[in-house]
Amino acid sequence: MSTTYRTAIVGCGNISHTHASTYRRHPCIDLAAGADIDAERLAAFRERWEVPAGYGDYREMLAEVKPELVSICTYAKLHWPMLKACAEAGVRGIICEKPMLNSPAELPLVRELVDQTGVKIVLGHMRRYGMAHLRARELVLGGEIGDPILVVGTLTGGGLAEMGSHWIDLMRHLIGDPEVVSVLAQTNMQDGTLCGHAQEDDAVLLMEFAGGIKGLFESGQTTLKDNVLTLIVGSQGSIQILGEDDLVISGPDGVRKEDLMVEQPEQWKALGLELPEPWWNYKWDILLREYLAWVDGGEAPLTCADQALKATEAYMAGYLSAIRREKIHLPLPGKDLTLDEWPGDVLARLASDRSV
Ligand SMILES: NC(=O)c1ccc[n+]([C@@H]2O[C@H](COP(=O)([O-])OP(=O)(O)OC[C@H]3O[C@@H](n4cnc5c(N)ncnc54)[C@H](O)[C@@H]3O)[C@@H](O)[C@H]2O)c1
Repeated sequence: MSTTYRTAIVGCGNISHTHASTYRRHPCIDLAAGADIDAERLAAFRERWEVPAGYGDYREMLAEVKPELVSICTYAKLHWPMLKACAEAGVRGIICEKPMLNSPAELPLVRELVDQTGVKIVLGHMRRYGMAHLRARELVLGGEIGDPILVVGTLTGGGLAEMGSHWIDLMRHLIGDPEVVSVLAQTNMQDGTLCGHAQEDDAVLLMEFAGGIKGLFESGQTTLKDNVLTLIVGSQGSIQILGEDDLVISGPDGVRKEDLMVEQPEQWKALGLELPEPWWNYKWDILLREYLAWVDGGEAPLTCADQALKATEAYMAGYLSAIRREKIHLPLPGKDLTLDEWPGDVLARLASDRSV
């Protein structure tokens, strides 16, 4: 790959620094500009990553810098207008942060935008490239635990769409990305807010996948050992992913462990990448490598918009299920695609009327 891509970041807050450091590690990225409405954040970002140009208005940045690639690192509410503005300005590739969209109404709009402009969008669902996750997927798809029956993701905090976006996406990934055919969910909304929208304190979401596999996601206030557990149960065994790095594989021949953190230097050599600082950001390096290969005409990566939209549709359906107290069938029909606001905000309003 010899092309150099003129690249910009919109939204220069916390996660933008991970994008910038990943870009800095790649020889084909020219990090040319940043845009943020907060002048102090923008200045700190530019200084840290030695970014030549800065803008308060991202549309002005698009017009003047004409970036080929853009990272969108703002909250969900701004993603659709920013995706649209970037694609219409001729941007070829976008890494968009999760949660991908703000409302069910934006789902068909973004699909149409991709069809019309050919813009290549990937989501910051970098956990798909975690070594333990890639290894578990390989074992599941290779038949190690027989036919998958159930996939579980349970986390301390994070809600249906903030951390749920990662895990609902990851749960599909681990079992080979089947379609989600229905969703049943409930939330405990108090007064929480996160990233500019209402945020549930606890949430459960049951998914049914094509082929009959079930998926159970929980995000709760009760602290879990390791904060997260992911489990795949099959007809002949199971795989537990403890934290995000260790596997416990149970099957007819007994139980064995794979500690992918300890084995990590070997894994690194196999991936042919330099170890970043902190090391766990390697997932971003793989994401960037796969995304650039796609922009260059290669295959769509695991984190492409097609996959991300399915996770997005599933958590949107989860909110609709909690609002309407019924099972929601996917793909969402036209009547469910009319809601044009963060559905968690609707739930928060309903929850504030505790007389019901
Ligand atoms: N992939 C991951 O693991 C991961 C990790 C952290 C955050 N995130 C996601 O990234 C997004 C941003 O989170 P964060 O923690 O970086 O938030 P943040 O508040 O630190 O940064 C957001 C930035 O966007 C800027 N902004 C707001 N409106 C803007 C506009 N019109 N134009 C340009 N900039 C604007 C803000 O001034 C702020 O600097 C969230 O959706 C969050 O869920 C993803």
